[in-house]
Amino acid sequence: MAKIKKIAVLTSGGDAPGMNAAIRAVVRKALSENLKVYGILRGYEGLIKGDFIPMNSKSVGNIIQLGGTILKTARSEKFRTVEGRQQAYNNLIEKEIDALVVIGGDGTFKGARIFAEEHNFPIVGLPGTIDNDLFGTDMTIGFDTAINTAVEAIDKIRDTAASHERIFFIEVMGRDAGFIALRVGIASGAEAVIVPEVPTDLEQLHNRLVEYMQRKKTSSIIIVAEGDDAGGAFEIKKAMEKYGDEFDMKVTVLGHIQRGGSPTAYDRYLASRLGVAAIDALLDDQRSVMVGMINRQIVYVPFNQTIKHHKSIDQTLLDIVDILNT
Ligand code: F6P
Repeated sequence: MAKIKKIAVLTSGGDAPGMNAAIRAVVRKALSENLKVYGILRGYEGLIKGDFIPMNSKSVGNIIQLGGTILKTARSEKFRTVEGRQQAYNNLIEKEIDALVVIGGDGTFKGARIFAEEHNFPIVGLPGTIDNDLFGTDMTIGFDTAINTAVEAIDKIRDTAASHERIFFIEVMGRDAGFIALRVGIASGAEAVIVPEVPTDLEQLHNRLVEYMQRKKTSSIIIVAEGDDAGGAFEIKKAMEKYGDEFDMKVTVLGHIQRGGSPTAYDRYLASRLGVAAIDALLDDQRSVMVGMINRQIVYVPFNQTIKHHKSIDQTLLDIVDILNT
């Protein structure tokens, strides 16, 4: 295989805190291996448009603590087309780039896999999404910061919930997965957690709220994952109202606050380790793999695997929620 001399890095899909730390690690490790590095703006959109910027050590100075992504991000429709991907390839060839590092989620890896196959181009991926829904890594970059942000907000809501003796339905992100909801639910001492992976029994939820009231539990926090089958927090509150108006209920949708902010130490650490490992992988002739961390060890998971396999939540964690709020 031809020796890699020049690489490019991009961030794609929803941003996640720690993406900057990952960019920094990729750039500085690549430079330490005497590689030339380009940053590509706005993910696959910038790859198609040819928005490439040369990067040096200074370009990634003072960014490890910043949320968002200095390279910007986008969800590209054009990259779903053969023509879009051909244009992207032409741009890489024109700039004499030998390999790509992509930082993003499931959609990013799907695009990377097709592109790598079509053009026989070396790509390594880093898992960057707050959702933690990628098979092949215990944690994705951004998850830890997102759950900490959510817990901090929920602690504040709990104060007012307790004072007013209210039930709060708090919606968290996670797309169609319940990882954020579960972790946040346990960490904030929630009375219930509603996740897409388990069918929601609204009657049972109502009975539970009644039971809490009978036990003189005068306020409750119910965490709702945005992708739940029974709907988001507003729908679930509405469903509870149909049983009667015995509760004072409120809804808070935490929304994009979960995507921003300075990354936690863990996310910076994870991003730094994975970024370095991505360059090691490319220099070691690994292709079309996501770099993950399982049981504190670096692992390389083929794109095919991380796309095909579904990462499951640990349903025993729901039992823990129940046990701990009795
Ligand atoms: O994948 C990250 C995520 O924040 C999901 O949790 C959420 O469903 C989605 O992105 C929101 O996307 P957008 O910012 O495009 O509305």
